[in-house]
Amino acid sequence: MTAQLTGRVAVVTGGGSGIGRATALRLAVDGSFVVVNDLDTERAQETTELITRDGGKAETCAGDVTDSTLVDTLVDQTMAQHGRLDVFHSNAGTGLAHGELTSITNQGWRAEVELNLNSMFYCVRAALRVMSAAGGGSIICTSSAAALGAVPGTGPYGAAKAAILQLVRSAAVEYGGTGVRVNAVIPGAVKTPAFQHYIGSDERLAAYERQIPLGRACVPEDIAAAVAWLASDESACVTGTTLVVDGGLTAKRAEPVIE
Ligand SMILES: NC(=O)c1ccc[n+]([C@@H]2O[C@H](COP(=O)([O-])OP(=O)(O)OC[C@H]3O[C@@H](n4cnc5c(N)ncnc54)[C@H](O)[C@@H]3O)[C@@H](O)[C@H]2O)c1
Repeated sequence: MTAQLTGRVAVVTGGGSGIGRATALRLAVDGSFVVVNDLDTERAQETTELITRDGGKAETCAGDVTDSTLVDTLVDQTMAQHGRLDVFHSNAGTGLAHGELTSITNQGWRAEVELNLNSMFYCVRAALRVMSAAGGGSIICTSSAAALGAVPGTGPYGAAKAAILQLVRSAAVEYGGTGVRVNAVIPGAVKTPAFQHYIGSDERLAAYERQIPLGRACVPEDIAAAVAWLASDESACVTGTTLVVDGGLTAKRAEPVIE
């Protein structure tokens, strides 16, 4: 245990899988009490059990973060039960509306924005309310490398993930005076269930990894380590910014290579 976060209380959304689960486990190892949220109650409960089995402290608060009432309840219940909220990792999300832009329906666009942007706003707003009143806290939103460069067929997702970066800046600027810090983490390719589904085969994964300067996709624990740092006092002077964790993927430009 690194004890960086002893006595702190953290909420992680989408904590039942992938990056969210790895972050919940890491924040618990670092000493936090972790409130694990996920749409999937069973998966959230599994994460809570993984934490408590290893001697950490956690509880489950399942629900859909596209419902702003649920998000407010998540924060209010955490305050009622623990009296504080120090860290909020707003992480739940996934690509929904796939295809070139002219094929995207209004409904598909709205669903993408609802899950990947509006839910982040609900979470940031709810966390800001209690953290600013308490005089501090750290909010971390999960964006994506899709916010920095376009991959054909993922336009709605990229637009929503890019808007998160400006939401983070606005929140950091407006609430910096209260002691609350707000940052975004930008994962590249991360081996999670959602990514495995997207990538499909070992052959496609190998082709992708050949394009990454460090030669590999990230694992969820790589992102969790960045979130844990942003959550801790080690990053006390860091706000309104983005931390890219992608093995160098977005640093690279296309080059003329004949395979
Ligand atoms: N895996 C990657 O390569 C990658 C890259 C860039 C960004 N991201 C982002 O990281 C985040 C986590 O992705 P992941 O790869 O770990 O995915 P994942 O599918 O493994 O986990 C996401 C979790 O979020 C939950 N969830 C989905 N909708 C929800 C909702 N409305 N309310 C509450 N929970 C909900 C799911 O049930 C799931 O357990 C997402 O925001 C994703 O866009 C992932």
